Amino acid sequence: MTNVTSSDVHTTKKFKSRRQEKLALKNAQSNKSYVNQTAFRACERIYRTRLPPPDFTEVIDFENLASNTQQNLDRIVKIELKHDLTELSPLFGESRNDAKLCYTLRDFPGLVVIPQAFSPSAQKNIIKSCLRDHAKHPNLSNLDAHYVVPDGGIWNLYEKEAKGEISPEDPSYYVPLKDMSDSEDKVGVYGDAPKETNLSVLPPSQLIRRLRWITCGYQYNWLDKTYALEKRYPFPEDIGDIASAVAKAIEGVGHIEMDGSGYVNQYEGSKFKPEAGVINYYQLKDSLMAHVDKSEINMDAPLVSFSLGHSCIYLLGGTTRDVPPVAIYLRSGDVLAMCGPCRAAFHGVPRILESTLPDYLKTNPEDPDWDIYASFVNEARINVNVRQVF
Ligand code: OGA
Ligand code: MN
Repeated sequence: MTNVTSSDVHTTKKFKSRRQEKLALKNAQSNKSYVNQTAFRACERIYRTRLPPPDFTEVIDFENLASNTQQNLDRIVKIELKHDLTELSPLFGESRNDAKLCYTLRDFPGLVVIPQAFSPSAQKNIIKSCLRDHAKHPNLSNLDAHYVVPDGGIWNLYEKEAKGEISPEDPSYYVPLKDMSDSEDKVGVYGDAPKETNLSVLPPSQLIRRLRWITCGYQYNWLDKTYALEKRYPFPEDIGDIASAVAKAIEGVGHIEMDGSGYVNQYEGSKFKPEAGVINYYQLKDSLMAHVDKSEINMDAPLVSFSLGHSCIYLLGGTTRDVPPVAIYLRSGDVLAMCGPCRAAFHGVPRILESTLPDYLKTNPEDPDWDIYASFVNEARINVNVRQVF
């Protein structure tokens, strides 16, 4: 990193006041300190900025093709799924208009995006199961590192609080903090996991907002970035079925250029085994840094991921952070698969987009059971990520 001194600034500009000069110096310093950042990092910074809001014109939008720049239109390739997903599993809901429509990008071979793969009611069902059924033991969550989460799960406790069934006087109301003095969890599987800060006992309605991820199937060991072979729990049936259906539908899907470059996914869908999953729960201010998912032994099998709740900006780059990433809108109901070369690409989520919750996920007097889930997704995005490990 190069240092900027006031002489750098002086030589280029004259100032009306000492204040102006100080401001210019501060600006120059902040610009110079980013000179050596990678292309991926620079892009993350752009989309993370809230004031002033970034320019979104270069974000790829598969759902409103007409709104894309010409440069993006030139890289978008419309392709066909092998099967209509709704014929493979009832969990996708009613069929879409263009049931086999999906997309890839010329310069990101192996990427497959299926916009609006799930009907609104199917989306509601998955959101419910991600909160009510999967965010509890035996699946581990970030909260387990610091809290003694009850076996019923944090969602169950939150529901009891919302229904007035428990109050702060009840012994079960506050989830206690773990005694870390003699705990192997100090290191254990959480060694390198994203850390919790501001630890304190909280009402369930606040603790539920601290839920950041759960892992299912083979449990991930954050310390050495491997899967714990001895810790394998049953894979949740619904998200396993969804991922397997996607793997079948994207068999033989891809794009080859005139010059022979490109990629077609040849992974046999019927061989796909959903073995490890991560569910990410993002609050509006959360983000996910650039990374490559490379702990799986089997890197030929596609990684299947789907989005629920608020939309996000998803960045997809190359095998190093120096490759400038492309930005893509991912919305509730979208499926994204990473196949072949795309499996080795850096990707991340620099921003959740506020005010993008679809109307059908908001509270609705005709569906009072949905209210509590609406209260959660009203400020959140959920991402389900399914991998075959072996
Ligand atoms: C991940 C991941 C992307 C998303 O969990 O590894 O890349 O869309 N998630 O949240
Ligand atoms: Mn990932």
